[in-house]
Amino acid sequence: MNLPTSIEITEVSPRDGLQNQSSVITTKTKIAFVDALSKTGLQRIEVSSFVNPKWVPQLADAAEVFSGIIRSGNVKYSALVPNEQGWERAMEVGVDEIGLMTSASETFCKRNTNTSIADSIERIKPLVESAKANGVGTRGYVSCVVACPYEGEVDSGHVRSVVKQLLDIGVENISLGETIGVAVPSDIARLYDALEGVLSPEQSILHLHDTRGTALACVLSAMQLGVRRFDASSGGLGGCPYAPGAAGNLATEDLVYFANRMGIDTGVHLAQLISATRIIEESLDSPLKSRVYRALSCQDPSS
Ligand code: HMG
Ligand code: MG
Repeated sequence: MNLPTSIEITEVSPRDGLQNQSSVITTKTKIAFVDALSKTGLQRIEVSSFVNPKWVPQLADAAEVFSGIIRSGNVKYSALVPNEQGWERAMEVGVDEIGLMTSASETFCKRNTNTSIADSIERIKPLVESAKANGVGTRGYVSCVVACPYEGEVDSGHVRSVVKQLLDIGVENISLGETIGVAVPSDIARLYDALEGVLSPEQSILHLHDTRGTALACVLSAMQLGVRRFDASSGGLGGCPYAPGAAGNLATEDLVYFANRMGIDTGVHLAQLISATRIIEESLDSPLKSRVYRALSCQDPSS
């Protein structure tokens, strides 16, 4: 089946998951959640977001969360940074990597970051330079790589152009955001075809939302194309307040179970992950949607 022997997962639930919750989640719970995730074997955790707190009030306590967590030497801790002000806040608490936002759709870019794609790249440029000078890693999020909640289908040529611009200004890692969860395997094939010569599957990170239950099918086809790095969110938490209709991310439990059954190493201990997810589920208004979490949380996950 041409599958990898291992994959790397970035856990995005404390950021992508919690930015979209209507219930109030205390800083103490967020810290306990990140600390529990740090003990699961995950090597990368996106902890929070230094965006304008008026735009995303749910993550206004990003600095407190960063200051409160117990860092593991085996984990890289990252956060979203939209501008200089966010960079300064992130630097004060010592993030390992910053997530920089742009999009392949003009309308989404404007709604999400109040600027055009071209200006978003200009905004990102000095942040990349500052991050490099301070030994901080960079990942560029390109949202709407398949479709946009406002414009519909997105031309893969736009994705190629935006990815190239990010690489040209020195962004180290590119996370391809399937923001609204519409993709099926043929979309993933078309996406990587369009990126040929600019970004290889092996270099890329795939960030899937699972609104229509198609994320794991996309993972399988992406793996077969050579993709080795995936973003995922425990319990299937997730969504963007500026992407109407987008439900949660690909669930980390679903991805780890899927990989385990196929002999693909993730380094993540499923039972410990389920325990970590339970911490956050207790603060939410409704049960989490991850199928594997639901199936295994009441029984021994090794069975
Ligand atoms: P703006 O309102 O245009 O910014 O926001 P501004 O520069 O005009 O400033 C307005 C006010 O906000 C000023 O305060 C600034 O000081 C303050 P005032 O003078 O009015 O008192 N301000 C800040 N305060 C704290 N930290 C900051 C900051 N920036 C400005 N960093 C901005 C522009 C980009 C900041 C805003 O649009 C924003 O924060 N957007 C982020 C939206 C967001 O977080 N969306 C969700 C994440 S993206 C996502 O989920 C997709 C992803 O998962 C991938 C995928 O699935 O596709 C990544
Ligand atoms: Mg997302």
